[in-house]
Amino acid sequence: MNPFRFGTIVEGQFFTDRVAETAQLTQKLDSENHIVLISPRRFGKSSLVQRVLSQTERPVLQLDLQYVLSVDDFASQLLRGIFKLYPLEKVRHAMTHFRIAPILSTNIVTGAMEVSFQPTTDVGVLLEDAMALVDKVTQPDKRLIIVIDEFQEVVKIKKGFDKQLRSLMQHQKNLNYILLGSQESMMEAIFEKKKSPFYHFGQMIRLPKIPYEDFLLYVTERLPEGSQKIADDILKFTTCHPYYTQQLSSQVWEMMEYQGIREDVVSRATMALVAMHDLDYERLWQNLNRTDRFTLRQLALDKQPMQNRNQAPSTSYSSLLRMIKAGMVVRSDHYEIEDPFFRQWIKQNIIQ
Ligand SMILES: Nc1ncnc2c1ncn2[C@@H]1O[C@H](COP(=O)(O)OP(=O)(O)O)[C@@H](O)[C@H]1O
Ligand SMILES: [Mg+2]
Repeated sequence: MNPFRFGTIVEGQFFTDRVAETAQLTQKLDSENHIVLISPRRFGKSSLVQRVLSQTERPVLQLDLQYVLSVDDFASQLLRGIFKLYPLEKVRHAMTHFRIAPILSTNIVTGAMEVSFQPTTDVGVLLEDAMALVDKVTQPDKRLIIVIDEFQEVVKIKKGFDKQLRSLMQHQKNLNYILLGSQESMMEAIFEKKKSPFYHFGQMIRLPKIPYEDFLLYVTERLPEGSQKIADDILKFTTCHPYYTQQLSSQVWEMMEYQGIREDVVSRATMALVAMHDLDYERLWQNLNRTDRFTLRQLALDKQPMQNRNQAPSTSYSSLLRMIKAGMVVRSDHYEIEDPFFRQWIKQNIIQ
């Protein structure tokens, strides 16, 4: 079986490092504090949180704001979560304060409890009631943990939603929130701008890539004997990005294991993966304006985009910001193209 995993939450033998972060999160959850966890996508936020949560007996409710379409939707997803976690009798009893009567039904296929509401004009009321219910069901000896993924979407759902949510959270006790986000600049605006309702809401933790030494050991151990140099080549290409490292390692493992390839195996695996995505990259490139193309070309050449003679630094900078927002460029200690295979594609096709 392929010893590398990508695209899903990793746990058990597939999970490595994050010792300090696991301890830090666990410790925070033991207090009244809330947690804000930030990293670009696919750095391992979900996997880390899952690991921490697997070590607790406390009830956990998970929401992803990417899939929340309105304030009403948020309230009903919250309620659905509560129905899953707590006995119906207890919840029903705690719901007597509801001003808009929810309609409960059982999905006969899945057996899950479904909640809907009479259409209402006052969405704020529903949210208030749902948030108050959360406070009623959580217990001091088994404090609820609410995980909200892609939290930066909070400002897009409805104008004023962030403010309302924050003021309702204010009154809740006996629970911790873990708020995850992959759009760094938006998350910073939400939690670090004085005017934002979520200013200093929780302890902010930034998840870095996996450190080289740890990842080197992880990859080497899983490849055939004597593959340390190969593992090092993999990490040089992926710059220790958790997802892409697992993806490339997986491809290398297959070529070594099934095709017996040893020579140039990393560059051959890389080429195979670039070719596999050729169509996507071409489409992506076609949709970029010339400024962004210049910026990416600079980055692919390991040059800082601001040193581009072809465009003004301010033009390069706004191009960078735009692509960071789109997730195409990330910043760790310097700016880099998020997907190393796209970087390679640019090198092969654009730079001759
Ligand atoms: N601690 C880890 N050890 C090994 N691989 C990891 C780890 N964390 C993440 N990965 C790799 O990165 C991928 C994305 O992880 P995920 O937790 O979904 O990231 P995020 O929630 O930040 O988008 C995983 O499928 C896995 O391949
Ligand atoms: Mg995730």
